[in-house]
Amino acid sequence: DWNAEHIIEELIDGVRAQVGDGRVLLAISGGVDSSTLGLLLARAIGEKLTAVFIDHGLLRLGEREQVEAALKPLGVNLITVDARTEFMAALDGVSDPEEKRKIIGREFIRAFEREARTHGPFDFLAQGTLYPDVIESAGGEGAANIKSHHNVGGLPDDLQFKLVEPFRTLFKDEVRALAALLGLPEHIRMRHPFPGPGLAIRCLGAISEDRLDILRRVDDIFISGLREFGLYDGCSQALAILTPIQSVGVMGDERTYSYTAALRAVTTDDFMTAEWARLPYEFLATMSNRIVNQVHEINRVVYDITGKPPATIEWE
Ligand code: XMP
Repeated sequence: DWNAEHIIEELIDGVRAQVGDGRVLLAISGGVDSSTLGLLLARAIGEKLTAVFIDHGLLRLGEREQVEAALKPLGVNLITVDARTEFMAALDGVSDPEEKRKIIGREFIRAFEREARTHGPFDFLAQGTLYPDVIESAGGEGAANIKSHHNVGGLPDDLQFKLVEPFRTLFKDEVRALAALLGLPEHIRMRHPFPGPGLAIRCLGAISEDRLDILRRVDDIFISGLREFGLYDGCSQALAILTPIQSVGVMGDERTYSYTAALRAVTTDDFMTAEWARLPYEFLATMSNRIVNQVHEINRVVYDITGKPPATIEWE
């Protein structure tokens, strides 16, 4: 008999028993697992929790504000770190996907470490590890786990905390049920997974503020559109990609030579294999019109009709 209210009480008792008077550090990714954990810990230990949300400049439109608005009013002691400049500098001119991931992981740890030292000392590190992460090393499905999310080995030796992992016996659906009771807004609770490296691996090749800004606007039109048309929950993940392809178009009497954006939506149970989502033509037509009308840097929109395998979900 799985009673969410009862589980919350049990988890809170467990955390209090483990943590005592200790101080706990938590990295918030903006996803459902770490956000829910933030809410649970705020209830359990209040100000003894410090939650850190690092804005690496690779987030979606409005994401930082949404996370703050969701967590702060519910008592989460949240510190938002603006690390956009350092991430952009570190990524300057880098086009190889794995190199991008490594740099973002390294910069993330660096920024997180700095916050840990500034606001510390801490006794515990909380992680939103789920049961599937425990039984298999997570397939990178956006787990709240710092290591898998950020493709890194972990924190340095002098910052080795004891782990607090209250969700170790839970599945994703169960975390979502807890999230509802804890008051996490629906748009975060039902959110698709989003990779740690964020928009950097959807902005193909070397990134720049300008290209990220284009991608952010395209992504927002697509994701908002999916929600508006009631198609969001039917997809396991949806994303926009900014390609480096420029092609010829026409606008009024003028020729354009602008970028191609790709849209991708998939359905999957485990993210190891996936089918492309059969989105209605009318919806795709609306998205294409909105994108080329609102994002002038884009003159062509394509929809990815490839399954995984052979294509991955992300393009990088
Ligand atoms: P692929 O592209 O390999 O993605 O089919 C499978 C799932 O993993 C996510 N993904 C990542 N998640 N860090 C993450 O936290 C990463 O570097 C990363 N790369 C891919 C992807 O969004 C999809 O859900």
